[in-house]
Amino acid sequence: MKNPLTALITGSGHRLGSSMALFLSEQGYNLVIHYNTSKKEAENLAHIIEKNGRHAYCIKVDLAKTPEKLIPLARRTVGNIDLLVNNASIFPEGSIKSFSATEIINVLKINSLAPLLLGQTYVKSQVQGNIINITDGNACNFNERYQIYRISKILLETITIEQACLYAPHFRVNAIAPGIIIPAVGEKQTETLLLKTPLQKKGSMADINSALWYLINSDYVTGQIMYIDGGLHMGKV
Ligand SMILES: NC(=O)c1ccc[n+]([C@@H]2O[C@H](COP(=O)([O-])OP(=O)(O)OC[C@H]3O[C@@H](n4cnc5c(N)ncnc54)[C@H](OP(=O)(O)O)[C@@H]3O)[C@@H](O)[C@H]2O)c1
Repeated sequence: MKNPLTALITGSGHRLGSSMALFLSEQGYNLVIHYNTSKKEAENLAHIIEKNGRHAYCIKVDLAKTPEKLIPLARRTVGNIDLLVNNASIFPEGSIKSFSATEIINVLKINSLAPLLLGQTYVKSQVQGNIINITDGNACNFNERYQIYRISKILLETITIEQACLYAPHFRVNAIAPGIIIPAVGEKQTETLLLKTPLQKKGSMADINSALWYLINSDYVTGQIMYIDGGLHMGKV
């Protein structure tokens, strides 16, 4: 029998990351659950996955400080990593008029540089693999309130295409750009965004998991940004 496949999902202690992890475990994957501060949530998720008959390992790394540690730690724990999902992110409110250099660098480190460096280490450590970066369908629409977050996600889209060209043919690199799936804590923008969304509805985790499964199983697809966002990326029409 073929060994079960293994996925590493960054920031998978809760919300979108944990839902993708649970979904993949239901498809037969073992999981590396990466977290920074959500230790309890990560361990609870690992417990559920183990109870369902798959293996799950929790690894803590602060991606703003030591992103280079994650892949070697995970490789030592599980061996081959069949899928790397760069999901971890921060979502700070504010315009580039007011952010300090330190704040800007921190967002770029976590949202853009960490996926780039994780991809680099992953590709160096294995002969083949699959990377899925999580961007944002709303990133390209001007909005001063989340400006540096948007910039970091647009950069991640560009990184995705660059990685896809550079790392082919043995690695595929794609992105999923969600729309409104789970509002951030205290987020008041959702209603306005829903009106700007062509399909005028929220998405669900099932929509994201379908895209994930499609990208995993599509050996002829690389360099794609899949907008799972009800058309939000097309902006206000
Ligand atoms: N929620 C949505 O509807 C939506 C819409 C569009 C795009 N997205 C994208 O989808 C992804 C997941 O969204 P989400 O709302 O579930 O994200 P989230 O809850 O805001 O963050 C996901 C994880 O990122 C991790 N993280 C943050 N800073 C970190 C650091 N310094 N080091 C390591 N990990 C760090 C956190 O881990 P700890 O909790 O362990 O600290 C957190 O669990 C993100 O990339 C987001 O941009 C989401």
